[in-house]
Amino acid sequence: MIRTDPPTPDLFRTPVEEVFIRNHLGPHPRLDPASWSLTVEGLVERPLRLDLPTLRGLPQTRFTAVHECFGNPLHPTVPTRAVTNLEWAGVPLAAVLELARPRPEARHVWLEGADSGDFAGESGVSYLKDLPLDEAAAEVVLAHGMNGEPLRPDHGYPLRAVAPRMFGTNSVKWLTRIVLAADRPDHLFTTRLYTRVLPGESESRPVREKDVNSKLLTPGDGCSVPAGSLELAGYAWSSTEVTSVEVAVDDTDWQPAALDRRGPDPAWQRFRLRYELAPGPHRVRCRATDSAGRVQPLAGDRNAVHEIHVVAEPGTRPTDR
Ligand code: MTE
Repeated sequence: MIRTDPPTPDLFRTPVEEVFIRNHLGPHPRLDPASWSLTVEGLVERPLRLDLPTLRGLPQTRFTAVHECFGNPLHPTVPTRAVTNLEWAGVPLAAVLELARPRPEARHVWLEGADSGDFAGESGVSYLKDLPLDEAAAEVVLAHGMNGEPLRPDHGYPLRAVAPRMFGTNSVKWLTRIVLAADRPDHLFTTRLYTRVLPGESESRPVREKDVNSKLLTPGDGCSVPAGSLELAGYAWSSTEVTSVEVAVDDTDWQPAALDRRGPDPAWQRFRLRYELAPGPHRVRCRATDSAGRVQPLAGDRNAVHEIHVVAEPGTRPTDR
């Protein structure tokens, strides 16, 4: 039997040990929380240098959100399906901006991490991302906690940005500098990589809001299962609420699955369908639609429908769970 899924794939909240790690510029920087600080500079009335106790004294928030890697920026249409659902704790960026008071000409927020290194033929680059000021102020949280514990070093300790409706690339780890600017930064990770042309558009745009997507997690890909009645289940997510998920077994029609509502947080939504599996090998696919009317494509893009293969054994016990 081949397993490709993590050992506890159907939990609502992904255990920290199972969260993927994506460091573009080498090993994580080792930051001393006692000397670490976050500067807020550029087009602000009041430049700031904030330490951790000061940030912890500001209003705090806690929410659950899908944390998804966009995939390899050099191969932006290839599905990687690295996705988790996490509880974050931190300070809304808006609370920090209120202290710094952006000037009227400020239009963009640049977020920079402490790491630097080589990537895609460029050397000595930092990890820099940017967002429009209004979107950043409405959405970004400066997080110090993941799933009720302090951030681990690989996930951005002591502080990272989290943009809950956006791909993980926007959630800058080891955050040390915020710049308010009139323009976008021209940089490897802002204008040269992590851009794409969306279906039906002609202009390339930065990789920000998540696509509509879904992943079958039960049964695991490559598993043997007992033939007969079986629950096919997984999670669906998008930058907006997912409104339906369909499941297809082999070449049968798409069937609507039961789907949980999203709630106030941009968390993932569980779907399930009970199905009578005849003995033999099967292909199972899932396809989500969101409230913006976006549907997962059948093939050819990073959020193409997810497909797993299982073998239904006559009269056996399950080999997975
Ligand atoms: N922030 C910094 N400073 N350096 C990085 O390499 N990688 C980004 C983002 N933030 C990155 C970063 C990418 S591509 C993703 S998908 C997420 O962090 C991954 O976060 P994780 O490693 O905590 O899962």
